[in-house]
Amino acid sequence: MAKSVVALTLVLGIFVASTSAFVPTLIEKLWPGQESDGVFDTVARIPYSDLLNDNPYVDPFILHSMKRYGFFYVVDVPEYSALEELEYMQKFFELPEELKSDVEISSHNPENKNAYRGYCPGLDDVDSTLQYKNVFNIGPHEVRAPFTGSLDDALEKLRYECSEPNVWPTTDNCTFDKGFKEVFQVGFELRRNVARAFIRSISRALEMPNLPSLFNEDEFSAMGLRKYPVREQINANMYSDFDGTLLRELEHVDSTVTVLSTFNNDGLEALYKNQYSKAPVTGDNAFLVNIGKLVDDIIDNQLTSVRHRVVEVPYTRYSITYFLGPAFDADISRSMSGKMTEAGHKYRIFGEWIKDYLGAIELFYY
Ligand SMILES: *[C@@H]1O[C@H](CO)[C@@H](O)[C@H](O)[C@H]1NC(C)=O
Repeated sequence: MAKSVVALTLVLGIFVASTSAFVPTLIEKLWPGQESDGVFDTVARIPYSDLLNDNPYVDPFILHSMKRYGFFYVVDVPEYSALEELEYMQKFFELPEELKSDVEISSHNPENKNAYRGYCPGLDDVDSTLQYKNVFNIGPHEVRAPFTGSLDDALEKLRYECSEPNVWPTTDNCTFDKGFKEVFQVGFELRRNVARAFIRSISRALEMPNLPSLFNEDEFSAMGLRKYPVREQINANMYSDFDGTLLRELEHVDSTVTVLSTFNNDGLEALYKNQYSKAPVTGDNAFLVNIGKLVDDIIDNQLTSVRHRVVEVPYTRYSITYFLGPAFDADISRSMSGKMTEAGHKYRIFGEWIKDYLGAIELFYY
């Protein structure tokens, strides 16, 4: 990045704070647009290395994009191929069911101990728009620390639960097994780095120096490999209440920090000016980043937690989600300016919040 551009964008950073009515158009001109002329063509596209290296020139672009649209893209990820991930994902989901059952979560296969990490078939509920997908969940732990708390202490038990180690498929092809594990361990790390660098960027832009410390542990960050098969049945639950469109994933707002891969699959739409528009795909070398309500409340609703959905497409759709939540012990009851958050009416720390979030899944086993 040439010095003059850095200087110019730093000046812009100051402008954004003071004269926001004028600057957005200027930034849009500066930011490289795409070929087509969609609503989201001016969403920021931030080079991975500049984001990760805390290069402050990225801050006003991310801030602007997050305020206006509620998402931005991270591009030019070195030595990374999303299509390699996609290939491994497809191969995994195509494995015979009896092989996948070895890594199924315990609510599907009671012989297994893993409650959250692993394979979740979830195609039984054909009536629900939200549940018609296969998911393979990956977390940050390969081994679990021994349980040292008191059995009477529900939060200590939950802290132990949250550090559930990953499970990985075992097939008769060691090359596949090794490759699958390596590719997704690396992919997990990449997304976690992106999410944390994003938090640092907005902490600088919004002058909230304490924000990154809420994310210094990630006991329950989660990456989900998702397959949405073509539906054989259509029913009334699958239409949007908002505009009647046929959907695969209902309209919703996330909770924490999301890093998303859509590969070359269409379908993702985001709400902007009271209308859903198509979000550009992430392709082979990019991620889409957005935040959810819990995190937006913590930063005093300075950004937009974008409402989004997936419309029905006539093919099997794959995506990868990654969610970075605050640390287990992070206080989520107060915003950065000290106001009580919506979550704060019920919870003090993130661990208490995650307990209810995971409530549907049976808790604690040895
Ligand atoms: C084993 O897996 C690798 C990696 O996915 C693949 O390239 C190779 O063709 C597979 N071998 C067989 C015999 O299926």
